[in-house]
Amino acid sequence: MSNEISKFQDPGLPAHQHRKSDTDPKAEKRAEQQVAILFLISAGGTVLSIASYIFIKPGKFVFLPIMGDVDAHQLFLGLGMAIALLFIGFGAVQWARRLMPDEEVVAERHEFRSEEVDRKDFVNTVKERAGVAGLGRRTLIKRSLGLALGLSALTPLVLLRDLGPLPKKQLNKNSWEAGTRLVTDPGDRPLRPEDLEVGSVAQVLPALKNGEERTLENIGTDAVLLIRLRPEDFQLNPERLSWTHDGIIAFSKICSHMGCAVALYEQQTKHLLCPCHQSTFDVTRAAKVIFGPAARPLPQLAITLDEQGYLVAKQGFTEPIGPSFWERSS
Ligand code: FES
Repeated sequence: MSNEISKFQDPGLPAHQHRKSDTDPKAEKRAEQQVAILFLISAGGTVLSIASYIFIKPGKFVFLPIMGDVDAHQLFLGLGMAIALLFIGFGAVQWARRLMPDEEVVAERHEFRSEEVDRKDFVNTVKERAGVAGLGRRTLIKRSLGLALGLSALTPLVLLRDLGPLPKKQLNKNSWEAGTRLVTDPGDRPLRPEDLEVGSVAQVLPALKNGEERTLENIGTDAVLLIRLRPEDFQLNPERLSWTHDGIIAFSKICSHMGCAVALYEQQTKHLLCPCHQSTFDVTRAAKVIFGPAARPLPQLAITLDEQGYLVAKQGFTEPIGPSFWERSS
């Protein structure tokens, strides 16, 4: 039984008009050149974005009316990518409008799934039309399109450069070392154990050496939380217990999940909380993770007293502080 649905006798379409490029070889040539020019402009856009990425250093500004000072590196990188993608689209549209076969065919209405023979016919027709569309014959368009597409694929590859260079030992560096005094932040005041009551918490930084200045970057890696418990509250192994002083324990303030500042201390439960994704660390057990996405405890800083009775680091951190990363051993 045929699955053909009743014919529509008069669909009311206007008479088909042939395009100029269908009948005039000169117009066809002109259309072909226009399409190629659009693809070449796209290729130029890619070159512009790659060149601005490599040659224009970030931080150079150009003045644009209305927008004011704009970072030239970002401006031309974005502009180039926009031109590259936009003109591939323009070229494809122009190609379809002016040069692709423009014939009207009658397709009878059928039920949704075509018969097997029609499906095979469809595949054959697509192959045949691809040939007629000149995919093989129009070398100028084929090459300029290949160039535009090929170059546009280069942009994301070039941007991969931003993944490097590898930080190597940089991520292990901070300012803490044996004998560094713990000073208040803010205030840079050295601390004695008696300055901290049981249950209190203080944010500290390493004391500056002569001539040193504190930078935001230093603060971002060196911030430490000092917490005072009763010595009997700790559940630590002997080594970690020896890193505390009279109930005072110190941890890096930088969350081991993604580097937020661990800023909340619950005095009752003795838990430290990271506000970003709620990782929770148990202070009594060397900041063991008891909840949340952090995969490791906050690094503990070993502390002791110097000759004047001020709190100092016994040694630097023994593991990298901050978020986990691919090269870390802990
Ligand atoms: S950064 Fe602290 S929990 Fe995610």
